[in-house]
Amino acid sequence: MELRIKRAPRIDIEITVPGDKSISHRAVIIAALSNGACTLHGFLPSDDCMHTVNAMRSLGIKIEEPQRDTLIVHGKKRVLTPPKKEIDCGNSGTTMRLLAGLLAGQTFESRLVGDAGLSRRPMDRVIAPLSKMGANILAEGPEQTPPLRIRGGSLRGIHHRLPIASGQVKSALLLAGLFAKGRTTVDEPLPTRNHTEVLFNYFLVRTATDGEGSVTVFGDQVPESRDFTIPGDISSAAFWLVAAAAQPRGHLLVREVGLNDTRTALLGVLLRMGAQVREAIEDVDQLEPRGVVEVTGFPLKGTVIQGREVPQLIDELPILAVAGVLANGKTIIRHAQELRVKETDRIAAIAHNLRTMGAQVTETNDGLEVHGPAPLHGARVASFGDHRIAMAFAIAGLFAEGETIVQDAECIRQSYPGFGIVLNEFTNPKRMQISTPVIGSFTPTPVKET
Ligand code: S3P
Repeated sequence: MELRIKRAPRIDIEITVPGDKSISHRAVIIAALSNGACTLHGFLPSDDCMHTVNAMRSLGIKIEEPQRDTLIVHGKKRVLTPPKKEIDCGNSGTTMRLLAGLLAGQTFESRLVGDAGLSRRPMDRVIAPLSKMGANILAEGPEQTPPLRIRGGSLRGIHHRLPIASGQVKSALLLAGLFAKGRTTVDEPLPTRNHTEVLFNYFLVRTATDGEGSVTVFGDQVPESRDFTIPGDISSAAFWLVAAAAQPRGHLLVREVGLNDTRTALLGVLLRMGAQVREAIEDVDQLEPRGVVEVTGFPLKGTVIQGREVPQLIDELPILAVAGVLANGKTIIRHAQELRVKETDRIAAIAHNLRTMGAQVTETNDGLEVHGPAPLHGARVASFGDHRIAMAFAIAGLFAEGETIVQDAECIRQSYPGFGIVLNEFTNPKRMQISTPVIGSFTPTPVKET
């Protein structure tokens, strides 16, 4: 499938985005371990998350889908049954790494497989600490890549310091910790998304934190079944937020979106680049904050993204690189070497596509430097099988002269089914649903900068 994109007319629109991907994966797994039925509203029915749903089904969990974004997960008090065959994680790194943690705590043997892209991604980051806890994990691919053969059971809690900041690895260890003897503590070099910890608290699993960057889970606990509503995914909203921010007088409201502050660093960057950005948390009842974000576009200026900010906007870096070429001056992204081991080497993919569209880009080991404002021209660009690359370049197309074609765009279904429908609204002025300006009625939350 190809996406064909033309320059956007004036943006003035109000949208919602589908459920948060990271939270959807975790909610299904934790609900499945709970002691009863949990209804999950706002679930993201994307390819990645459906791999987690099907994996939990293959482990003996009954999961009903009364609606596309509603699941009823019948928790079985941590009892899982051996899968009849290998578990297919598709292209989803989150599915494979979280399940590695979960399966490390089971007494049966299982095998996790992925598609060609996932089969190239490093798994030593979960294998090493889970082995330290007592699991037996064999990576069948070269250099510790999938498939993974896992024989777990009788784990002991450990105190582990992550060498790389990773929400996935932290979560894998916390899930394994639930099945381990004693306590499992994970220290992270820089704070990453904390949805596992938040959901543990919501499902009444006891955890402890020792300041920022250290979390402990106590073993042998059963999550208490509860219903939960997953907020919209700010990483999906990011594409539209950048589009509105980069168009002078562009205006966008995103409602019902997750505003967990381990995920909102993008807003701070857009603010510093010169856009007007407001966020208002409207609901924290279920512990994951949700609310409204409003962005008004201004001529943007270049910025530096580095250090502590990077793990908190790791998935937003492709679209922020696009924001960089639309801004005045230089935008530098550093300390982002993790981008090289995402769904594709995102540093190389961004540099390649930006150059194809006429921008000046320097690729570094751990990031990129882009020079703006670049007069982008429409071109055929590749998705590299990576959903975030495909979506970032669809947005670049909204600012380019002529037509942009994003090839192999079906990968967008991994995180954002329905992206193409919203994209049509952005390119078709008649369909633009004029948003009600709400600036003025918000209490802006200060956005942290590095
Ligand atoms: C995720 C963590 C991040 C992110 C991925 C989802 C998660 O990966 O890139 O899309 O749900 O924990 P890392 O933990 O590998 O940085």
